[in-house]
Amino acid sequence: MTVLVTGGAGFIGSNFVYYMLEEHPDDKVVCVDALTYAGNLATLSGAMRNPRFTFYKTNITDRESVFEIFATEKPDIVINFAAESHVDRSIEDPEIFLKTNILGTQVLMDACRKYGVRRFHQVSTDEVYGDLPLDRPDLFFTEETPIHTSSPYSSSKAAADLLVFAYYRTYGLPVTVSRCSNNYGPYHFPEKLIPLMIVNALADKHLPVYGKGENVRDWLYVEDHCKAIDLIIRKGRVGEVYNVGGHNEMRNIDIVKLICRELGKPESLITYVTDRKGHDLRYAIDPTKIHNELGWFPETKFENGIKKTIQWYLDNQDWWQEIISGEYQKYYEKMYENR
Ligand code: NAD
Ligand code: DAU
Repeated sequence: MTVLVTGGAGFIGSNFVYYMLEEHPDDKVVCVDALTYAGNLATLSGAMRNPRFTFYKTNITDRESVFEIFATEKPDIVINFAAESHVDRSIEDPEIFLKTNILGTQVLMDACRKYGVRRFHQVSTDEVYGDLPLDRPDLFFTEETPIHTSSPYSSSKAAADLLVFAYYRTYGLPVTVSRCSNNYGPYHFPEKLIPLMIVNALADKHLPVYGKGENVRDWLYVEDHCKAIDLIIRKGRVGEVYNVGGHNEMRNIDIVKLICRELGKPESLITYVTDRKGHDLRYAIDPTKIHNELGWFPETKFENGIKKTIQWYLDNQDWWQEIISGEYQKYYEKMYENR
């Protein structure tokens, strides 16, 4: 089987590429990635040596190139990870989010229609459900929770989800959608909370916590997300949404303090900064459906996953030093100076 993965040079996509090459020795993996600021070929250097892996530097909005790749590779399954993924960037400049996340998804599905696939899987997010109040720990996102987005990022992802279901109903495209909570693990770009705090703490820099740090996210180790997607593409029902999350809710401030403790850094590095505009309060997934239908459950406990992740950043300083030495500096100054 040939599995075409878009966005495979990013955080979750690259973890998925390695997972697939390891777990399915009979499958070929084709990666399509535009190598935006968030994509890094060095991340895929281990896969590049594998004869079952092929890489195309291509933008998913480039219809002609995408169609050529489909004609050449004839994928059986397409999994769309490619996206602009950072909420803060979407607040600064929404346009690229609409182009990549919505129109890019359309191009991919048009190619799937033309060349025929067994499955188009859209990697979506729990952010399409909006947020939950902090004082109602009894509430969770189910697959029936209405779409109610907050940021340009989540709105673009929700629009793509709706388009995916339009292609299912109108053209009969065999689709599935997964909506996962916050991931953490290796190759996480250091603009996101956990890797940013690790990298800053190691450099004894301020740890910028938005607002009071009381917002809650539901953290899942990235490999558990990869396992969920692998199950959905093989055993999931066409036309269905599957929520993915591990009941691991934590306040941002508690995560940052934990990172300080693990690295032996003082909490005095923590700086409370101006809150994110429209900041979602709490995400919390009810994973009952994927558990009951596909037998999925999270295997990595947060206390182990966060240790493994911190160790990965300690062992792979070249990977993130390279990233933070370039354009990232300008991004960081723009986003955090005078905040
Ligand atoms: P990421 O930003 O780390 O990686 C995105 C990848 O997509 C990069 O390699 C980038 O080069 C590529 N890309 C961007 N625009 C492209 C384009 N136009 N054409 C081709 N490639 C392009 O993102 P991530 O955190 O790995 O997220 C992957 C997917 O998972 C996204 O769709 C995101 O919405 C979803 N998701 C992420 C999380 C999370 O916690 N990170 C949770 C749930 C869902
Ligand atoms: O829930 C899934 C989503 O998780 C994915 O769809 C997104 O692609 C992914 O980026 C992530 O979105 P978040 O906005 O939740 O992640 P982020 O790491 O940007 O922020 C996590 C929390 O930490 C959030 O409440 C904002 C806060 N934060 C973040 C940064 C970068 C800070 O307090 N300080 C920071 O510097």
